[in-house]
Amino acid sequence: MKLAASILSADFGRLEEQVREAIAGGCDWVHFDVMDGLFVPQISFGVPIVASLRPRFDQPFDVHLMVKRPESQAEKFIEAGADLVTFHWEATAHPHRLARLIRESGRRAGIAINPGTPVEILTDLLEEVDVVLVMSVDPGYAGQAFLPRSLGRVRRLRRLIENAGLPVEIEVDGGINPTNARSVCEAGADILVAASAIFNPRVSPKAAAEQLRAAVRAGT
Ligand code: DX5
Ligand code: ZN
Repeated sequence: MKLAASILSADFGRLEEQVREAIAGGCDWVHFDVMDGLFVPQISFGVPIVASLRPRFDQPFDVHLMVKRPESQAEKFIEAGADLVTFHWEATAHPHRLARLIRESGRRAGIAINPGTPVEILTDLLEEVDVVLVMSVDPGYAGQAFLPRSLGRVRRLRRLIENAGLPVEIEVDGGINPTNARSVCEAGADILVAASAIFNPRVSPKAAAEQLRAAVRAGT
């Protein structure tokens, strides 16, 4: 299991330090939630945050575009140093074309689906992507409750990928915490994204990431 630390809940005044702590606790990827105030209600941050952290970290940068018409933005994030660029199926009329563009730029392509979008819609796109990101909350905010029916969705997607015989990874994003992390992995997730479970005032990012990893190993 890989753990992606979503900086959406981090203290931006101490961003570099917070990301270093999360990595020290076992986070493998840095996850950037880019929000445009249109596809989702709020605006988060854009290219400058990715570009300014890039020279400071070797870890894969996982850019999750929650923006309308992601085809107009993807190349800027590629230039800024994204390793994986994930866009929403719901946000573009041409997911196939955009996935190809990302891969032709030498980066990994991810496609994200909202909780109300059937996983089967991806059947003919699986060979064009490296990662499917299953949203386990409606995108837009950190700190929302995990939607339990996401487990069945991950299982169905896992079967779809196995039937297709493709090396596509499943990333699950939204409401991940030490209580549900193990069941999400057992359902078939390869990568867990967590924002508020890692960056919160109760515990250091290092301890929080360690707790998540321990929960996946042992169950809680
Ligand atoms: C939700 C974002 C998530 C979010 C997760 O719109 O895509 O990555 O930051 O936040 P938590 O882990 O707090 O649910
Ligand atoms: Zn995300």
